[in-house]
Amino acid sequence: MIGFLLITFRLPQASTMASMVDNLFDFILWTSVISFVGIVFGKLLFLVRFRRKKVPESKTAYITGHTAMEMSVAGILLVWVMVIFYFGWVDYKKLRVAPANSLEINVIAKQWLWEFQYSDGRRLTNELVVPKGRPVKLIMTSQDVLHSFFVPNFRVKQDIIPNTYTSLWFEATQLGEHPIYCAEYCGAAHSGMLAKVKVLEPDDFEAWQVEGSLGPMAALDATANAKVSPAEMGKTLFSTKGCNACHSVDGKTGVGPTFMGVFGHQVELQDGKKVAVDENYVRESVMDPQAKVVKGFQPIMPTFKGQITDEEMSALIAYIKTLKEAVQ
Ligand code: CUA
Repeated sequence: MIGFLLITFRLPQASTMASMVDNLFDFILWTSVISFVGIVFGKLLFLVRFRRKKVPESKTAYITGHTAMEMSVAGILLVWVMVIFYFGWVDYKKLRVAPANSLEINVIAKQWLWEFQYSDGRRLTNELVVPKGRPVKLIMTSQDVLHSFFVPNFRVKQDIIPNTYTSLWFEATQLGEHPIYCAEYCGAAHSGMLAKVKVLEPDDFEAWQVEGSLGPMAALDATANAKVSPAEMGKTLFSTKGCNACHSVDGKTGVGPTFMGVFGHQVELQDGKKVAVDENYVRESVMDPQAKVVKGFQPIMPTFKGQITDEEMSALIAYIKTLKEAVQ
């Protein structure tokens, strides 16, 4: 019955993940339904077949157990759980690792709205515009409390946490609008924390990026179009916040490590451990510089806690990401 309802009223499968998630769900659902029916009918059958009779038959021998049967039931259950685990693991890996060619968009969640920032400086509130057929990676943080980014049609959901970055990726396969919900109770207007993903043909997306060719939205965009990209803003902050006093962007070692070519790579720390330079590593190094000091450097960097906003943090990270090879 529930299965029938689920299949009849299934949400659109609007991303490459959707069928994958649904298949595993269906497998668990239907194998559970089959075993439920088997157990209930078996029980009813036994109740009738072995009910107490008016004229007692000779008593059945007392049974203490049946090893072969017990082991085979346990074995079947083990195999069943391992199959679920295997597909869960394979799907989870796909869900967690964004393809390298993903389009990156920053997301800031706050009570009670969503802000989407594109690498060209465009920002949208409560509307996320993405191209069809291209992986999109969201790099998300919260300005206040826990939120959770949830697009049921894409079958993706990820918590958003203050003072850290979480990410999520999807590849949309259906044009049109898909609702975004906040899936973590975050205060009085939690249920009103709604937005939508607008999926465009790649060509339309390009056009939209060049200049809002989407009618009324274009005018709205134009006002917000003092278009400074996060990377440009980060470059300015790099000198106004004084990072450049100790960190170079051309590979030269200063008082602190250079920023050239570090993002996405591993660095060795004082204790010999290696860590990957990602969004969270950069944030931690700015807010709590002593937490992970790179080998060969003194732990002398001051903290920037309280002096850098979430937006500035994301901008600095965007700038550091651009410092791939020798710049300037
Ligand atoms: Cu944000 Cu609930």
